[in-house]
Amino acid sequence: MIEDDHPVSLLEVRGLIKSFGAARALKGVDLDVHAGEVHCVLGQNGAGKSTLIKTLSGAHQPDEGEIRWNGEAVTIANPVAALELGIATMYQELDVVGGLSIAENIFLGHELARGGVISRREAAKRTRELMQRLGHPDLSPSREVGTLSPANQQIVSMARALSHDIKLMIMDEPSAVLDSEEVNNLFRVVEELTNQGIAVIYISHRLEEIERIGDRLTVLKDGASVGSNLQVSQTPTRELISLMTGTDIEHAFPPRVPIADDAPVVLEVENLTLAGVFEGVDLSVRAGEVVGLAGLVGSGRSEILETIYGHRKATAGSVKVNGKKLKPGSVSSAVSADVGLSPEERKSQGLLLEEPIYRNATLSTFTRFAKAGLLDEAAERRATEEQMKALELRPAEPNRITRTLSGGNQQKIMLARWLIHGTEVLILDEPTRGVDVGARQEIYRLIRDLAEAGTAILIVSSEIEEVLGLADRTLIIADGHVLAERSTADIDEHGVLDLVMKGSAA
Ligand SMILES: Nc1ncnc2c1ncn2[C@@H]1O[C@H](COP(=O)(O)OP(=O)(O)OP(=O)(O)O)[C@@H](O)[C@H]1O
Ligand SMILES: [Mg+2]
Repeated sequence: MIEDDHPVSLLEVRGLIKSFGAARALKGVDLDVHAGEVHCVLGQNGAGKSTLIKTLSGAHQPDEGEIRWNGEAVTIANPVAALELGIATMYQELDVVGGLSIAENIFLGHELARGGVISRREAAKRTRELMQRLGHPDLSPSREVGTLSPANQQIVSMARALSHDIKLMIMDEPSAVLDSEEVNNLFRVVEELTNQGIAVIYISHRLEEIERIGDRLTVLKDGASVGSNLQVSQTPTRELISLMTGTDIEHAFPPRVPIADDAPVVLEVENLTLAGVFEGVDLSVRAGEVVGLAGLVGSGRSEILETIYGHRKATAGSVKVNGKKLKPGSVSSAVSADVGLSPEERKSQGLLLEEPIYRNATLSTFTRFAKAGLLDEAAERRATEEQMKALELRPAEPNRITRTLSGGNQQKIMLARWLIHGTEVLILDEPTRGVDVGARQEIYRLIRDLAEAGTAILIVSSEIEEVLGLADRTLIIADGHVLAERSTADIDEHGVLDLVMKGSAA
């Protein structure tokens, strides 16, 4: 690369500071972004990544510091001003509007910005072109966005960004909702952008992605940049982790303990069917066993978990816990049989964002904390604080309002709920989505500890490596069927991918 002589800095950030009340989210961030590069921003949960990009997209105003764009100091007053400069952002919390069509989501803002109106037909035509370019010609402009999967909602968000004439595209954890195929598609788009000289700021907790597409990177720790504009090719993973965490943790899975031969079957699922989604699913999990489901987004894996839990009502088949049949479509039947589910989408499915953290962490445990009819709040807070510390959730303040936590830290609260509670059967859908490397190790350890203590665990993850690292057995799901079952010792990542691809092509 020739960029070392006189690189063109499209964007320069110097000494950026931003507080929310007493909380200092950014304490001095420096970075430079060059035209046509992929600049990765890394850091643990709560390090300030999303806050940084929100100041660049005009959603937040910095308290101090300077932003230079093409060499000139600028103030980015609001998101429209950012777009006028050529900065488009895909947020971590998808910000598409469910009740509107794909075309409306993409072109609504344009009408306002130009003071004119784009005709429906023109909007539909341009939407089709964008979908084609993004590898999704199947998504029709009139389709209602609320009916799309999170992965496809993200495509809409990306299309909206690309509908503007941009110089910088900011992506905040785009791969968190994607499976491996969709990540390939995303990277293809990123490459297309950089080939046109557009810069990309890319945020992800998956370090292998940084190595694959990053040119340079900046690491944030506790709101400050601790390494700015480093070359990806000259920064080994070990160094990255130690910059982010301040320690040398190992990036590895905890050892598996073989399950006892006489371990009883705790969860037994027979012929479970949800018409039109999945069919004839048989599976069982023994005490102390971790069973993984691997498959692409849309294969039915999350729906299988939700149906076992009674969140959806099976159209046929049965779920038994310790030999006792659960009532189909009844979450309370599952809960009283001591089944827990940590769902994939924390916002819509489980967290009370306006409540303090300890309320969320202990939500399913109220009975245990109720002393003579009164809630023992001090005990709730103590238990929560313990888990927050274990999951490296700093500061460990159980009274904080849940909404003010970073995305990854909200995910940890969701998990803490089940780790405090302890259940006979624990169902985990994407337990480490958006969670940083340090806390991942801790979550892996907690999952293995629970298994060792006799919990039957069923887990779904888009990261095949994670399923293989944690599970004793893996079921491959494709197209709403269990395609194959393998002892995890007998299969590697390629083997799983092979099966998954064959299954979805068939
Ligand atoms: N609206 C807000 N009010 C109060 N505190 C906030 C607010 N938004 C963010 N914070 C705090 O600012 C800090 C940085 O949060 P930010 O969302 O930028 O982290 P992040 O690096 O994006 O983390 P993650 O990887 O979990 O997404 C955190 O301590 C967070 O709790
Ligand atoms: Mg974030």
